[in-house]
Amino acid sequence: MEKPLTAHIPKDGSWLRLKDYERVGGYQGLRQALKMTPKEVIDMVKDAGLRGRGGAGFATGLKWSLVPTPDQIPGPHYLIANGDEMEPGTFKDRLLLEGNPHQLIEGMIIGAYAIQAEFSYVFLRWGYQFAEKALEEAIHEAYEAGYLGKNILGSGFSHELSVHISAGRYICGEETALINALEGKRANPRAKPPFPVVSGFFGRPTVVNNIETLSNVPHILSKGVSWYKSLSKCEDGGTKLYGVSGKVKRPGLWELPLGTSFREILEEHAGGMRDGYQFKGALPGGGSTDFITAEHLDVAMDYNSVAKVGSRMGTGTIIVLDDKTCVVGMVLNLEHFFAQESCGWCTPCREGLPWTEKLLLALENGEGKMEDLKIFDDLTRYMGPGNTFCALAPGAMEPLQSALKHFRADFERHIHEHRCPWK
Ligand code: NAI
Repeated sequence: MEKPLTAHIPKDGSWLRLKDYERVGGYQGLRQALKMTPKEVIDMVKDAGLRGRGGAGFATGLKWSLVPTPDQIPGPHYLIANGDEMEPGTFKDRLLLEGNPHQLIEGMIIGAYAIQAEFSYVFLRWGYQFAEKALEEAIHEAYEAGYLGKNILGSGFSHELSVHISAGRYICGEETALINALEGKRANPRAKPPFPVVSGFFGRPTVVNNIETLSNVPHILSKGVSWYKSLSKCEDGGTKLYGVSGKVKRPGLWELPLGTSFREILEEHAGGMRDGYQFKGALPGGGSTDFITAEHLDVAMDYNSVAKVGSRMGTGTIIVLDDKTCVVGMVLNLEHFFAQESCGWCTPCREGLPWTEKLLLALENGEGKMEDLKIFDDLTRYMGPGNTFCALAPGAMEPLQSALKHFRADFERHIHEHRCPWK
């Protein structure tokens, strides 16, 4: 099984230096891209079926193709790699940033060439300090080798790349809040449309892509579309970094074909449940997705298949719920996080999430009422898609509304028994 993204990450905790990266085919994708027109590069990424790995799964080639060309809108264009990885349970980009920063840098230069961007930024989560060090050194190596800077490899294309350290908020992972933060403003999301591809960083055409997404790009260019499509088990292309946390035998992260079954990830790679624990449910793609249950164990972990069972692939990092963990407590923990991370800009999110947290806390303490369950339904509607500025609140309500659907009896037991039955 091929693992292009992770195969060459050193096992000793260090990162793949330029010479070692080049030895395993590094920067061949860039050399190939620079022989092609930007449109040909975009078409290749489109044909490869690469979908955004940040959570939403938007087609990467399509996103790039929506950027007006410099002929249509002259002046600077920008590319931003979103490394503000803060989705609960998600730790996949960290591995790529810390282990193979050149792969990301190469993907960024190719992406920048495709959209004709002169500048790009890695917007990096504050806590990722090892990643920052590796990236800064790798960027230095790339400049020295002529992969960055003026007239890259004699192609006439010039590009500057730098790292921006985020102040450390979940909302900065939302691309328009991220753009505001990068401009030095408060990290409030902007209304979309206009999408950043048309009006982003300082109002200029800007592409924001996730770290894992961009790390796929060099391989598409160097090894081709059919090879890339053959990596996956579904209609979209490539591999995926899947993670599992919770009471499993071997929590961790694995690069597997996109569309690997949930059961295989859980039972083979994560080693199944720890002795004495039963699988009860899981959030398949980070904290802001809907619970799936035992009846969905055979779902293929790809964007379309997970959507068909009522959840989202999200970041592909699974959080497992077991029978000895209180689902109300778990959701309370998540809602506490989301309420704290709300930027406070739009009323439904600013008011609705703390209210949700307060009701859940009362419920967990045995002070809940049956009417509260109805209020949760109302709050889910008020904070639903279209009623808030960005996806934070609708995403935050996904674990709660799906927990109420699948595990309603657990909520009702807290009310009837006036205590948490799991304590
Ligand atoms: P979205 O669906 O609004 O957009 C996804 C991407 O496609 C964006 O880059 C957007 O600009 C682009 N796009 C969508 N429609 C477009 C159009 N018509 N024209 C041009 N571009 C278009 O989703 P959003 O709000 O960007 O992301 C939500 C996702 O982020 C959730 O799935 C959540 O799981 C994930 N997330 C991931 C985090 C992480 O740490 N990896 C943190 C927080 C959220």
